Amino acid sequence: MRRKMAAGNWKMNGLQDNLAELEALAQSYGDADCDILICPPATLIHRASSVCGDGIAIGGQDCHNAETGAHTGDISAQMLKDAGATHVILGHSERREDHNESDNHVRLKARAAIESGLKVVICCGESLEERETNNTLDIIGGQLAGSIPDQVTGENLVVAYEPIWAIGTGKVPTLDQIGDVHDFIRARLVRRFGDGVGLSTRILYGGSVKPSNAADIFGVSNVDGALVGGASLKAEDFGQIIAALASS
Ligand code: PGA
Repeated sequence: MRRKMAAGNWKMNGLQDNLAELEALAQSYGDADCDILICPPATLIHRASSVCGDGIAIGGQDCHNAETGAHTGDISAQMLKDAGATHVILGHSERREDHNESDNHVRLKARAAIESGLKVVICCGESLEERETNNTLDIIGGQLAGSIPDQVTGENLVVAYEPIWAIGTGKVPTLDQIGDVHDFIRARLVRRFGDGVGLSTRILYGGSVKPSNAADIFGVSNVDGALVGGASLKAEDFGQIIAALASS
């Protein structure tokens, strides 16, 4: 049985004042029957990890593929870990677009993160044009093949399927569309890594998940949780999503 995961991606949101929200979440849901991960901006990782205790894991939103060096403004996997992170999101579509990150970049970053002892949440997802031209599965297959390094185990890899057109838009694919992609990702993981890794890797859905649609999405086959942006910023909303997941 795969343990479900509710992951929050705060993106470029959050100041020290928002840590109270996190503390409230940890108190109410820290012992929920699912893994909870919050990925705040890098500036809050250290404080967030001390506020949350063991009930909520803290992750970064990106890391560099090198251990150290002349990379102004970048953060290494080891630095994330040193600050208290246990996970890192890699290959989010906003990074792929804003920073021209290719599958190859993502794979190198993921390898560095795993070597530093972090667990990786690797994102994939198609654009609206790619969906409308029936290229969704080709795109996802290519992203998985190119972005996931060979070193993964069922423990240190989480895959997040996030259709780009659903992120922050309020638009959500139909449950059948979500199921088709998640089944496809599962089959690709099994084909490449075998049953051990393939069947134990969690696959999260992301893109406009909110309290009102969470339970339906969590009922879809091979959906093991969610990667939540906007609705993870409010403890009340994210709490409802966690509760829906824990009882799914
Ligand atoms: P959203 O973002 O929940 O605000 O749509 C999801 C994500 O980008 O991870």
